[in-house]
Amino acid sequence: MDSGLAIGEFHHIAVVVSNIETAMRGNSLFFGIRHWEFRRFEGDRLPGLEDNGFLSAMGSNGSGITLELLQPLAPNSPHAAFRSWRGEGMSHAVSRCTAEQFAELEKQLEQQGIGEVHRLNLYGKLRSLQIESRPLLSGLGLEVQVIDEAGGFDSLPVDRVVEYDFQSILPVDKLYHVGIVVNNRDRAIANFQSLLGFPEFLPLELEVGSSLSSVSLRGETIDHAAKVAFSRINGFCFELMEPGPGKGAYQEFQSQYGEGMQHYFPTICDQSVLDAALPQLRDEGVEVLLEGVIDGVMNYYYLDTDALLGGVTIEVICPHDADWMGEMGMTREQGYLIGLG
Ligand SMILES: [Fe+2]
Repeated sequence: MDSGLAIGEFHHIAVVVSNIETAMRGNSLFFGIRHWEFRRFEGDRLPGLEDNGFLSAMGSNGSGITLELLQPLAPNSPHAAFRSWRGEGMSHAVSRCTAEQFAELEKQLEQQGIGEVHRLNLYGKLRSLQIESRPLLSGLGLEVQVIDEAGGFDSLPVDRVVEYDFQSILPVDKLYHVGIVVNNRDRAIANFQSLLGFPEFLPLELEVGSSLSSVSLRGETIDHAAKVAFSRINGFCFELMEPGPGKGAYQEFQSQYGEGMQHYFPTICDQSVLDAALPQLRDEGVEVLLEGVIDGVMNYYYLDTDALLGGVTIEVICPHDADWMGEMGMTREQGYLIGLG
């Protein structure tokens, strides 16, 4: 195991959106986020990029879900490139590190010939660096912020506090993992291990007729296969999914966008809880995109929450049995790698 780049601890996923006001409401409704800190970065708050600013809204639901919504304001703004090829969606993971780690990271990037997408100097006092990691990490963007400069990002002035009073539609536990569509699982595993120091990945082979009992896409029964793998380090927990033969959510994502972050997994709940929530979800434009069944273990779902959340697909697991991990033959250590515990 390599120790990897000195990027510090995972903090949150950043989602690039077209309309930050609409996205704040949708994410509040889905996740039960009651409080957003809205900031405008432009002019002298963004030295060097005065005319190429962006909007940021940070929200947390108090149970381990923290999201940042970003809306670029000009064609050359930070995050505008992502929006022009991908539209809305999960763009990058944000980690926070010490100034000492940041100095080490700069040295590592130079030694390994890894470039920078942008370097921000927020309010002229807080450094934030987006690493040119997408080509190396299957579309995953990485932004690293120095935590101990000027009190860190959270102490930067807030322009507006936006509050909502929604209960989440579904129970929201925490962020278990983020799923990334990759073109080649083995190559992606090797890259995540060498660049970020991930430990061993837990591989799973998914195929209707063997490990999967059935899969349906928008209600239509399909053939589906994928090679996936899970691992976790420093608060980062990822599932890497290489689409196989047949149809599926990963296959559709790959043909539309190539590689990248495809799903966000916050909920394990009883089937009756999901069933009871579906009418309200439908009222908000959310439909079941894909349903997979592993007899005796679980039903798993991808919800088409793109319009509500801003290009983000949600995974929900409904176990058939309290010991669903045991039924799958999974140890506690393996459960940890998929984000449990
Ligand atoms: Fe997943």
